[in-house]
Amino acid sequence: MTKFNIISPEFQEDPYALFAQLRQTAAAVPVAPLGFYAISRYDDVLYVLKNPQLFSSSALQKAFTMMAGSMMQGEITGLLQHNMLGMDPPDHTRLRRLINRAFTAKAIEDMAPRIRAITNECIDTILQKGEFDMINDLASPLPIIVIAEMLGVEPERRQDFRQWSNDMVSLGASMEMPPPEEASRQNQSRAELFAYLEEIIAERRREPQDDLISAMIRAEEEADTLTAEEVMSMTVLLLIAGNETTTNLIGNATIVLRDYPEVREQLKADPTLIPDFIEETLRYNGPVLGLFREATQEVELSGVTIPQGAFVMPLYASANHDETVFPNPEEFDLLRENKKHVAFGFGIHFCLGAPLARLEACIAFEEIFKRIPNAVITDDKVNWIDSFILRGVRTLPMKTLAAHTVD
Ligand code: HEM
Repeated sequence: MTKFNIISPEFQEDPYALFAQLRQTAAAVPVAPLGFYAISRYDDVLYVLKNPQLFSSSALQKAFTMMAGSMMQGEITGLLQHNMLGMDPPDHTRLRRLINRAFTAKAIEDMAPRIRAITNECIDTILQKGEFDMINDLASPLPIIVIAEMLGVEPERRQDFRQWSNDMVSLGASMEMPPPEEASRQNQSRAELFAYLEEIIAERRREPQDDLISAMIRAEEEADTLTAEEVMSMTVLLLIAGNETTTNLIGNATIVLRDYPEVREQLKADPTLIPDFIEETLRYNGPVLGLFREATQEVELSGVTIPQGAFVMPLYASANHDETVFPNPEEFDLLRENKKHVAFGFGIHFCLGAPLARLEACIAFEEIFKRIPNAVITDDKVNWIDSFILRGVRTLPMKTLAAHTVD
């Protein structure tokens, strides 16, 4: 088949080297072991994302079912069927319109003080500890607490949410099938998540609150615009989609600060550059490498014929390193002018949570630069997670240094 393999230790260590080869090769290249067509160039990725009638998102459900195979339980397959991420218009349009209301720019802006307070609680704990883990102590709890509060689920159960999130995203995204005991533990964990959410949804049905789950139930009951399965599916999507990704954004940005000390100094001197720092991190090493689409008919893409029914994988991270669009793509350029990266996708499925993720990451680094500006990563080697969909680390040991210490 093909010499390109996205399930290899080399890929995990440096996916960008393989992406560069793919961009040199052709607009669409089948990659081992599953035979997806990798779409690696910026213009082609945009073309796929702009044409949902040619490239259907239902691929998501099929691809995960195919990859996760026996690991899937019926309820998870059902959940994917009712998931906005894996839907096409008109169902996608209906769901997106409904949920958009909770994610307007104003609604997100209003959350800033609470996001700052949560960040500062995390940093209080970090300062007490001295030695800490950026992922466990800040990057993971922050988005989990925020979305848990929005949905109206108990933030105190954040350890459970984290475990559930990890076990949901590990589904099919991993380089290897887990051993049977681990697969069974993951299934158990996913079942627990469903049981927990069923309970919460039933409670909100009896006694609505001022939260997102109650708002979705109202839409289901009053306007008949959302089915019960969709309420469940949307809750899981919101709980999962935004957590690991935002965690990885904060983690990946922290790794940039280690690798580019001059950027760190610039940000210390001028924190108004933090939004630029977050945008360039999204381009340079964003949390999502790529996702799936299915060709609804035979399509010609920049000279390559993609057969009907073939799966394609638009590689957002490769598009963001396309040298014809972003000069010197392997360099982190804080002041890069072109900010048109596709780390949040593009078109009708453009990330619903992008304004929230940006706000959380910006506030996190504003407070980091105020309170622990000299914190450093203590391990020389970072271990990238085992996934060809997500990019990030599970742990990032660090220590705080006094603000006056020059390192
Ligand atoms: C840095 C953090 C994040 C990144 C990099 C990210 C990335 C993405 C990408 C690439 C897509 C498009 C998928 C596609 O093309 O099929 C997407 C969709 C989505 N994201 Fe995010 N995301 C992040 C944070 C969040 C947050 C915080 C939330 C919510 C709380 C969220 C909720 C969603 C939802 C619901 C969709 C589906 C939208 C649709 O199908 O219309 N994401 N995200």
